[in-house]
Amino acid sequence: MPELEECSGYIYLKETVYKRATIRAIKRPAIAQVPTFKTYPEAEKVELPRNWRLAEARITPLLQNRRSLRRYLAEPIKFEELAFLLWASQGITAKSGVYSFRTAPSGGALYPVETYFSANFVEDLAPGLYHFDVENFSLDRLSNEDSAAAVAAACLDQKFMAQSAVSFLWSSIFRRCMTKYGNRGLRYVLLDAGHICQNLLVAAEAIGCGGCPVAAFYDDEVNDLLQLDPGEESIVYAAAVGKKEKAKGTKCSL
Ligand SMILES: Cc1cc2nc3c(=O)[nH]c(=O)nc-3n(C[C@H](O)[C@H](O)[C@H](O)COP(=O)(O)O)c2cc1C
Repeated sequence: MPELEECSGYIYLKETVYKRATIRAIKRPAIAQVPTFKTYPEAEKVELPRNWRLAEARITPLLQNRRSLRRYLAEPIKFEELAFLLWASQGITAKSGVYSFRTAPSGGALYPVETYFSANFVEDLAPGLYHFDVENFSLDRLSNEDSAAAVAAACLDQKFMAQSAVSFLWSSIFRRCMTKYGNRGLRYVLLDAGHICQNLLVAAEAIGCGGCPVAAFYDDEVNDLLQLDPGEESIVYAAAVGKKEKAKGTKCSL
């Protein structure tokens, strides 16, 4: 088994980072486009009902109304709302033997994703960078400095990352997963991050917030902000969350 740096998964990650100095020179591969929807014109069509009774399930409006939101009310989120969002995205919900299972699934229950965030506008919490200590359901304060602008700059200067109440930053400690699964483990890391983000976005919706996932960032700038050892741990995904206007969202009936 090769060491981490020699794995093709690791090399791929390093080859696909965004760097401020070189981002404009990145050439897109000449891969032809395909339609957004796959069709089976020859297949028999089976219509689906749209009036299913589960539409009354409490999750239905959350899924229906979730939309990537990049404008937020000038209103803080409460500290307990932040705690809820952290729990919803990565909280421990069950224990069995050596495993502490969480709200989001994880390949092999290895949980390679770490949660950090920039608290920009949270009641009763000083602005700054924090790490979520999942095991103890507590926060590690990493910096007291207002990190909103620095995080937004590191995320390809996307301003809404500074205007959010909280900007979540998810890194991965690749070794946690790749020790067991090798190169294939990289797939699991990225899938895990997707689950976590979706949990967050749906939970945000439940408390009158909206969010936007973000994968456009200068990897090394975010890693530097979080003081990560890029050989072991690197940013993989991010999301901004803030209060949204009531009844906001693109309407589309079920
Ligand atoms: C992997 C991924 C990366 C994304 N990165 C960004 C980003 O960096 N900036 C941004 O404004 N939106 C980003 N988005 C949001 C997409 O633009 C958005 O999901 C898409 O337009 C569909 O809209 P919806 O989320 O409202 O359904 C990202 C979404 C995904 C799933």
